[in-house]
Amino acid sequence: MSSRIAAPLAVLATVLTVGGAFAQPPGTLAPATQISPQSVVRYWLEPAPAPPAGIVERGKWLFRQKGCFLCHGPEGQGGIPNRNYIKDVIPRLALAEQMKLFEPEDVSAILEQLKRGVRLDSLTDSPPVPRFNVVLAQYHSIQDVIRKGNPAAKKDLKKPTPPLNMPRWDRELSEADVDAIIAYLLSAVGPI
Ligand code: HEC
Repeated sequence: MSSRIAAPLAVLATVLTVGGAFAQPPGTLAPATQISPQSVVRYWLEPAPAPPAGIVERGKWLFRQKGCFLCHGPEGQGGIPNRNYIKDVIPRLALAEQMKLFEPEDVSAILEQLKRGVRLDSLTDSPPVPRFNVVLAQYHSIQDVIRKGNPAAKKDLKKPTPPLNMPRWDRELSEADVDAIIAYLLSAVGPI
């Protein structure tokens, strides 16, 4: 089996075993969108976007190819149950909020830089948005979670570790790939 699909398949197996996305006991929170095996296969067969497709299209493709959607929902909207997880369900990837970009024009200003391939770190002398130091710090912490992963904290310390944890992606995604995913999520996941 090619490694391109081996990693997402391993995640799918975990999600299936846990029963998170598919087998909902009555009365539990339903995921925001059901993930069907058909949509999983369709996502993985999607060809990489060809030029002139930009960074946002590439980010969307990577989000599907790498299997992020299995845990975070097809558009990053979250809601997938995670047993004994402190937050019960995997949260939505509301990156604009996390990066303290509360105005649509601030989201656009940052997206514009990413689309032009500008490294946000290079902009400290000409900040594109107010309180850019805070935005930059938040951006770095999001990059860090994606690169290094994060264990899901337990709700009840005496019970087993939650089955779904944020994997590390630094061996699979380049810095530009991580920026593409961040750009996609900035444009896809709006405010609540
Ligand atoms: C096996 C399930 C799983 C997969 C696959 C997965 N994640 Fe996660 N992710 C999680 C969990 C669980 C958390 C929350 C961890 C925590 O509570 O700190 C998380 C957290 C995050 C966060 C931080 C969110 C926050 O609120 O701080 C980002 C960003 C993120 N994931 C992006 C991604 C991206 C991009 C991919 C694909 C390249 C991906 N994830 C794949 C389970 C997953």
